[in-house]
This record gives sequence, structure tokens and C-alpha cells, in this order.
Amino acid sequence: MPDTLIEAQSVGRRYPQGGVSIAAVASATFRLHAGDRVALVGRSGSGKSTLLHLMAGLDVPTSGAVTWPALGTAETLLPEKISLVFQAPSLLEPLTVSENVALPLLMAKATCDIHRAVADALTTFGLENLARKLPEQLSGGQMQRVAMARAIVGNPNVILADEPTGQLDGPTGRALLDALLAHLAGTQTALVIATHDPAVAERMERMWQMERGTLIETVNPVEDI
Ligand SMILES: Nc1ncnc2c1ncn2[C@@H]1O[C@H](COP(=O)(O)OP(=O)(O)O)[C@@H](O)[C@H]1O
Ligand SMILES: [Mg+2]
Repeated sequence: MPDTLIEAQSVGRRYPQGGVSIAAVASATFRLHAGDRVALVGRSGSGKSTLLHLMAGLDVPTSGAVTWPALGTAETLLPEKISLVFQAPSLLEPLTVSENVALPLLMAKATCDIHRAVADALTTFGLENLARKLPEQLSGGQMQRVAMARAIVGNPNVILADEPTGQLDGPTGRALLDALLAHLAGTQTALVIATHDPAVAERMERMWQMERGTLIETVNPVEDI
């Protein structure tokens, strides 16, 4: 059996909202294994972003538990072992594209050739010509591609991408996904993409459906593992 990278047991996350508390995620139970390719689908507000943040250890459940059996504790996950691509723009404004992409390697004190690794990550997403640009000089779609390059540069165990094609037109979104899946082909990196685009979801091997905070379908439920 492949390594269990992320395990969620009855995980819930409630937020106070207008004097009551709402369940952004309600009792989700699942495992993510090395090599998994998962589409996390559901309407806006169904809890996808909240679930990704819990999986990354960036947020703490209000009930249940998330563990990372093959990866370690929450404090050690980002950015080396888990790359989280945020839904909102997350590039650092004063840094060039190259410097933004280099960040995970610098934070991890990587011993590899950083220039080469950054160049390779940029090439993967066709960004070579933007290396010296600042984020403010990029379109929304270009920023999303830079964020993806930053997510792959350190060869993490898990990539959690929150609506990575949300700013892109159909062909550009497909090209980004093609590039990502080609890059990951044959690797054990697990990939979870939150999306409400069926064309993206159908490219993945498994589908997790969120509906008002409930993970209602996993193709590969825990009982069957
Ligand atoms: N920081 C927050 N404070 C209060 N409510 C939140 C917060 N983040 C998310 N929510 C609520 O949790 C629910 C799920 O949100 P989210 O995880 O962003 O869904 P999705 O990513 O599927 O659009 C929504 O009702 C949203 O309003
Ligand atoms: Mg979201």
C-alpha cells in the first residue's frame, strides 16, 4: 500500500458567523496517498478552501483530527512537504517572478542548484520570458502559472491547488493542467485540485465532492483501503 500522506478522521471546522456558528467543513474522513490525483469539487462556499487549509496544517479543525503519517507534524509541512497554491493571488509584490518561485527553496535551505531548479519550474509552465517581471506586471492568469511553478519547484510530497485555473480561459487552463500532469507523471507526488470546472475534474483519477461542508463522495473510501 502506498504511504498515507494525509489522514482526516471526522474533521470539522466551524466558523462564527452573525452570532451563530456554521460548519464550513463537517465530519470529513479520508486518506490521501502518495501518487493520488484528486479533484475536490463543489459549489462556491461548499468548504473546498477550508478543507485544503486543514489538509495543509494551516488551519486547525474544531472537531476531529488531521494527521500526516508519512510526513510529520503540522509545523514541519509547509512549504517543503506540502505546497499550497492559494485561491487568492499570493505572490510577494516586491519580488520578481524568479525570486517568488525560489522562495520555497530558500525557506527550506535547499542545497540544490536554485537557479537551475527555478529555471526548470518556469519552463514547465512556459514562463521563461517573465522571469524578471514583478507581479504587478502580470495578468491574473500569469500569476496563477507563477504560483504553480512555485508549488512544484521544491518537489513536495503533496500539492494542494485551490482553483488554479479559475482565472484562465478554457485552452489556457487546459494547458496549465497538461503541463502540471506531465510534470508529475510517474512521480509519487499527490495532487489535490479544488475546482468547479468539470473539464479539470475529469482529468483526475478520483473525485471528492463537497456539498455544504460535507464530503459526500469519495471514490476510494477509507473502508475499502
Ligand atoms: N475565515 C472565515 N470566517 C468565517 N466564515 C468563513 C471563513 N472562511 C470560510 N468561511 C465560510 O465557510 C464556508 C466555506 O467556505 P470556503 O471553504 O471558502 O468554500 P469554497 O472554497 O468551496 O468556496 C462558507 O460559508 C464561508 O462563508
Ligand atoms: Mg474556495
